[in-house]
Amino acid sequence: MTVHDERANAVETTAAPESRDEHLQRIWDRVVGRRAFLRQAGLASAVAVPASAIVASGASAKRLRRAGDEPTEGDFAILRFLCAAEIIESDLWSQYAGFGGQASTERPNDGQNGFYVSALQNLDSDMPQYISDNTDDEESHQAFINAYLMSKGQRPVSLEPFRRLLPSPATGGGSKKVLTNLKRLNVDTSYYLRYRAETNPDFGATFGQAVTIKNQPAIPVSDTETPPGDTITAVPVPNDPVQQRMQAIANTAGFHFGMIEQGGSSLYTTMALKASSLEVLRIVVAIGGVETNHFSLWHDKAGNAVAAPLAGVTDPKTGTTFPNLNTGSEATQTNLILPEPCEFIPGLPACSVVRPTIDALAGARAAVKGLTNDGLFDGQSDDFFDFIERLAREADAATREIG
Ligand SMILES: [Fe+2]
Ligand SMILES: [Fe+2]
Repeated sequence: MTVHDERANAVETTAAPESRDEHLQRIWDRVVGRRAFLRQAGLASAVAVPASAIVASGASAKRLRRAGDEPTEGDFAILRFLCAAEIIESDLWSQYAGFGGQASTERPNDGQNGFYVSALQNLDSDMPQYISDNTDDEESHQAFINAYLMSKGQRPVSLEPFRRLLPSPATGGGSKKVLTNLKRLNVDTSYYLRYRAETNPDFGATFGQAVTIKNQPAIPVSDTETPPGDTITAVPVPNDPVQQRMQAIANTAGFHFGMIEQGGSSLYTTMALKASSLEVLRIVVAIGGVETNHFSLWHDKAGNAVAAPLAGVTDPKTGTTFPNLNTGSEATQTNLILPEPCEFIPGLPACSVVRPTIDALAGARAAVKGLTNDGLFDGQSDDFFDFIERLAREADAATREIG
């Protein structure tokens, strides 16, 4: 039947003129029916949904969902875990913003610790703005996912009962209890080497640490130790232990930002492969893209801690050292921040992709394990771990259901 014939039939058999919504619904019903037929024939991937079906009005979009796009229990489990992860991200990012962000009308309490701000600005003069903006993004992610869950009759995710950790007493820490610990971290910096390599952890590749950061604060922990009114105007003075300490703390934050956001990039990609509803897939892919955007930014800034003129900082208390990684090797060269093509689909050429993206390395339980090893949950109670691990197990158990 041609479009012309179809229009003629519609005129002949319909008493009242068809509304736009009805027209779109009819097209969609035909697409769904044809997709089901082609799937049985193993040809579904050859079908494209017509643009007219995608640009449906709000009313017809509702009907499209009724036609078979309601989220599954697995979709809700994915979103519940991602929401918890976003609440955790919001908590840690808001701590960073309080110390080192950029104060604004929307975020008047950001950037309280001038000494920390000046050390961060040795990595990039725009660091405070980026920190506040990253925090905004995480807060929008968790608020959106919870709103979506509630719009579908699901209970929102809350970690408020676990907000029990004392904030850092240094200026910028505020008085509100927190969910996450940034006062003593083991930052996994292997991502720095992984994204410069042609091998992929999904196929067994392993990577060491670009910089060894153990038991190291990523935020100021004491005004006595690092007076908030001090500044570092250029590179820290080598024999000044106060400047060296604060710069090492800021450098640690720089590497931690990259660690957190590369984890988000892998987690969202891994969860996308489990989503069933197209709308949930859209949410997971669209937020995941922003996590990757964040990672790229922080990957660049972390590199400035291990390049001239800043390289060489050593924390006098912990011994953590940030060496110069521009040693002539592409494995560590600081401006090679865009992902190197690597193994992806066996038998096909190398491809520049997010990695890892398998459950064992990048699923929900892997994310909890990584953040636990980081020290982010130090001080949290057993009920917190029970709760987050249950959410993680349920998300990992989700499988893509279509049809
Ligand atoms: Fe996020
Ligand atoms: Fe993030």
